[in-house]
Amino acid sequence: MNELTIRQPDDWHIHLRDDEMLERVLPFTAAQFARGIIMPNLKPPVINAQMAAAYRDRILAALPEGMQFEPLMTAYLTDTTDPAELEAGFASGVLTAVKLYPANATTNSAAGVSSIEHIRGCLEVMQRIGMPLLIHGEVVDPSIDIFDREAVFLERTLGPMLNDYPELKVVLEHITTSNSVDFVMDRPRNLAATITAHHLQINRNHMLVGGIRPHYYCLPIVKRASHQQALRVAATSGDARFFLGTDTAPHPISGKHSACGCAGVFTAPCALESYVQVFDEHQALDKFEAFASLNGPAFYGLPVNTGTITLKRQAHKMIGDIGEGPEAIRPYRMGESIPWSIA
Ligand code: NCD
Ligand code: ZN
Repeated sequence: MNELTIRQPDDWHIHLRDDEMLERVLPFTAAQFARGIIMPNLKPPVINAQMAAAYRDRILAALPEGMQFEPLMTAYLTDTTDPAELEAGFASGVLTAVKLYPANATTNSAAGVSSIEHIRGCLEVMQRIGMPLLIHGEVVDPSIDIFDREAVFLERTLGPMLNDYPELKVVLEHITTSNSVDFVMDRPRNLAATITAHHLQINRNHMLVGGIRPHYYCLPIVKRASHQQALRVAATSGDARFFLGTDTAPHPISGKHSACGCAGVFTAPCALESYVQVFDEHQALDKFEAFASLNGPAFYGLPVNTGTITLKRQAHKMIGDIGEGPEAIRPYRMGESIPWSIA
């Protein structure tokens, strides 16, 4: 098969940032995806429906003439989020989901949740109204090794939470381990997971052997090859609980090339081309539409997109830096020859 036409996909996990950065990165996402779940970790974070509505307007205002894209907004959960406000935001259609960052787990998460005890009221309401909870699943305990933080989160936090709220709709975001794959497979269907293109394509050797590659540094950190392999099998299996979420997370080069570099990989400019390459390598092109375009809407209870997109087995060279100097953004796979292209 040298050409593949699928329903237009959605990206179920995107960092679009704000202001000038938003204007620079949004066209790459809008060129590939019809809708996207927009992460709320701005400075300051988007913590309620009012802020989400204003952010949504800024995103739509930044969309270039002639391009279509529907931002699906999320609210950033804090220790003091008002459950009634979430309920009203969901009922009005402004909020699609709620994002749980354990406090200090990742970029701009200092205002996140310090203990599940603080958000029980929110979880009860969300369970009752069917509002999805999107989780950055890593513990922040300094005694836990960074490579184990996702697996420990499943045991310590997510397992008990799902036992307390068995009907809660949960997406475990950007999973990176076989532990998470197994955990999702063992639970009922109200738990799903997104998988990034870069976690399917790279492991910690790519990041660390022969020199440290800051553009492969993200959170949760890429793991050993056996975990990467488990993610590849899960994504290409056709199981409806796994779907596409790029976690495209742009940072200026000044933030990446630093003694204390920022976490995040800017994958938007070659996201679909990278995912389809993985499905091709697994002889699973027939499963790609489910992963990219069907499983996500089914989980969120949204209609499938009506448009289509065609991918061709035709190599193209990935673009270089976007912008110049320290404020430039370096895309994932810069300068590489990529075997698939969008027609
Ligand atoms: C994200 C960011 O930069 O906002 N970084 C990342 O490494 N993925 C935050 C996140 O999703 O953890
Ligand atoms: Zn993210």
